[in-house]
Amino acid sequence: MMRFRTIEYDQNKNEIIILDQTALPNKEVYLHLRTAEDVYHAIRNMKVRGAPLIGVTAAYGVALAARHGGSDLAGQACDLLNSARPTAVNLSWALGRMRNRLRHAPEPCEELLAEARAIETEDKEACTRIGAIGSGLIKDNCRIMVHCNAGALATTGIGTALGIIYTAKQQAKDLTVYSCETRPLLQGARLTSWELTRNGVRTFTICDGMAAAFMDRMDIVIVGADRIARNGDVANKIGTRGLAIIARYHGVPFYVAAPLSTFDLTLASGTQIPIEERDPDEVRVFTDRPIVADEAEIHNPAFDITPAGLITGIINERCVLEPPYEKTIQDIDSV
Ligand code: MRU
Repeated sequence: MMRFRTIEYDQNKNEIIILDQTALPNKEVYLHLRTAEDVYHAIRNMKVRGAPLIGVTAAYGVALAARHGGSDLAGQACDLLNSARPTAVNLSWALGRMRNRLRHAPEPCEELLAEARAIETEDKEACTRIGAIGSGLIKDNCRIMVHCNAGALATTGIGTALGIIYTAKQQAKDLTVYSCETRPLLQGARLTSWELTRNGVRTFTICDGMAAAFMDRMDIVIVGADRIARNGDVANKIGTRGLAIIARYHGVPFYVAAPLSTFDLTLASGTQIPIEERDPDEVRVFTDRPIVADEAEIHNPAFDITPAGLITGIINERCVLEPPYEKTIQDIDSV
């Protein structure tokens, strides 16, 4: 269904090819990453983005470094890549797997590549399962609000929140999606509208400030996640928390879709999740033009925390978790 690939590893050339997400929707540009530093900058500058995809990309970055300089370079690559972005736990989770494999690898090159491929395959499968499970919540003629991009562009599969939408569409359900533009970097406007419309999904892009005005005509809100704490608090793109509050006010169910690799059971609550603060110029400058008075200060947190109490359910590759999340998340292994 998808007519693009977010990432590909070329074993002959030992390079990672990524779709440059900063160039979308105007240009479909593929970049060739040849060193761990290239991979670091691609993640840091959000040429690749989305929690599951940065985990997969970093894993291939370690495999690539091992081919250049064996275990030593691979270990250094793990440290470097882990510092690229702090909030999405999929990054440190994937690098933890690579480190673990490295520790026990007599043949690091082959084994690290096999681990990176396994992480990619599992990501694809998780997306497909999330789509199958989550599509059960989507009825015919459904109007769905989404935020940021939790789609195929954020993963190596069909996406999480958008994977549910693609699966429901394949089941011949008629759907309309309202995609919040997602200031400051416009993942909703630039990326979600691009991939949904390419896949034949009717999509309205709305400014973030319009969400409340449209909420009373929504059937459901579905968003992705970058990290989920043990109590069910969710870190996701800035603006998600506001949507959850608006949805609660209007009685619209608010779902989070995320693979188990996004859960961080070491953290008791969302207050412990590190929130990335990005360059103020992302807010100050809009399409190369300053739009804020020079004297004004700027906040630019890339994520916010949605309290578990506002979340109707968390769709993952095994089930739909429901409150009380302290208990249902803990019991997930028995599902
Ligand atoms: O800063 P981004 O674009 O990487 O943020 C992405 C999100 O917030 C997504 O909702 C999240 O990573 C889930 S992607 C399946």
